[in-house]
Amino acid sequence: MQINDKSGYKAYYANDERYAQMKYKRCGKSGIQLPMLSLGLWHNFGHADDLLKGQEILRTAFDNGIVHFDLANNYGPPYGAAETNFGRLFKQDFEPLRDELFISSKAGYDMWPGPYGNLGSRKYLVSSLDQSLKRMNLDYVDLFYHHRPDPDTPLEETMSALDFIVRSGRALYVGISNYPAELAKKAIEILNDLGTPCLIHQARYSMLDRWVEDGLLDVLGDNGVGCIAFSPLEQGMLSNKYINGIPEGSRAAKSMTYLQKDTVEKNLPKIKALHEIAQGRGQTLSDMAIAWLLKDKRVTSVLVGVSSAEQLVSNVKALDTLDFSVDEIAKIKTILES
Ligand SMILES: NC(=O)c1ccc[n+]([C@@H]2O[C@H](COP(=O)([O-])OP(=O)(O)OC[C@H]3O[C@@H](n4cnc5c(N)ncnc54)[C@H](OP(=O)(O)O)[C@@H]3O)[C@@H](O)[C@H]2O)c1
Repeated sequence: MQINDKSGYKAYYANDERYAQMKYKRCGKSGIQLPMLSLGLWHNFGHADDLLKGQEILRTAFDNGIVHFDLANNYGPPYGAAETNFGRLFKQDFEPLRDELFISSKAGYDMWPGPYGNLGSRKYLVSSLDQSLKRMNLDYVDLFYHHRPDPDTPLEETMSALDFIVRSGRALYVGISNYPAELAKKAIEILNDLGTPCLIHQARYSMLDRWVEDGLLDVLGDNGVGCIAFSPLEQGMLSNKYINGIPEGSRAAKSMTYLQKDTVEKNLPKIKALHEIAQGRGQTLSDMAIAWLLKDKRVTSVLVGVSSAEQLVSNVKALDTLDFSVDEIAKIKTILES
């Protein structure tokens, strides 16, 4: 069934100019270049979401040279739904373009009941990826991550599962996510010894959450591993969306959300001050928040989520103004550290 056949399916013809729209950056010391802006499907691709909108978001991304789509086994809701919906959209629009896409998935958080549906065992990672591939209608993913550290499984087991996943043809590259600096260093070393280097670390990083600057980016830079920053807009807080209150339909207004109204209210003074600086740069706050992360050479790509194609188009403009003056950096740091 076509996604929108009742209303008249519109065939997708990718924009011929797509690669002129985007800037690409080498991921660590690997052969892979990633778009400096990537698209995550954590939100807005669940079963309750409008798939037509999802279709428009994916098409708009690709048309703008955003060739990296990031998923995980448990994105939805319900768990698995984002991969299933992506699989339908992929089949319909992108299958002939598979080799132009860089698709990632992950396992590490709870996915199914019992001892084999969570954390970091070889049993969980391999079977979870097999399920993800079926849902997404893919033969392989370009990148597979261990989603978070598992304190109880030996790191060697988790890393050798990643190595096996590459050797068995299920993924081309592997990465880690949410690993603190020291553990990341160990994981990188084990993967190097196994002959399957760690491509990238996916870490939470935004103007309001700068933990990676405290050691992790050094580890990644020293070891030639890329970094992709997730939740760069703090789920929308780093935009002009909340400056005049909490709009209907926004993440903070939804009941099932990781973004609490209190958090928005607490950060409002900083958001307003940053918004002013962004205006002075002729940029939106969201564009400045993206550019701020990319000024660090070790950050390969910024991974945004969007609830509309318009937001994505607006985020791509961040790449037009990536430089910051010394004065701007000082002012921004004063706000962030206040
Ligand atoms: N590895 C991990 O543990 C982990 C964890 C979280 C996320 N991720 C990955 O990172 C991706 C991005 O995370 P995220 O969705 O939290 O990122 P985000 O980019 O910080 O937040 C996305 C939200 O920001 C708002 N937004 C985006 N562009 C906007 C614009 N131009 N103007 C105004 N508002 C805008 C939208 O909110 P509204 O919906 O309110 O419009 C959107 O849903 C995820 O999809 C996932 O792939 C990974």
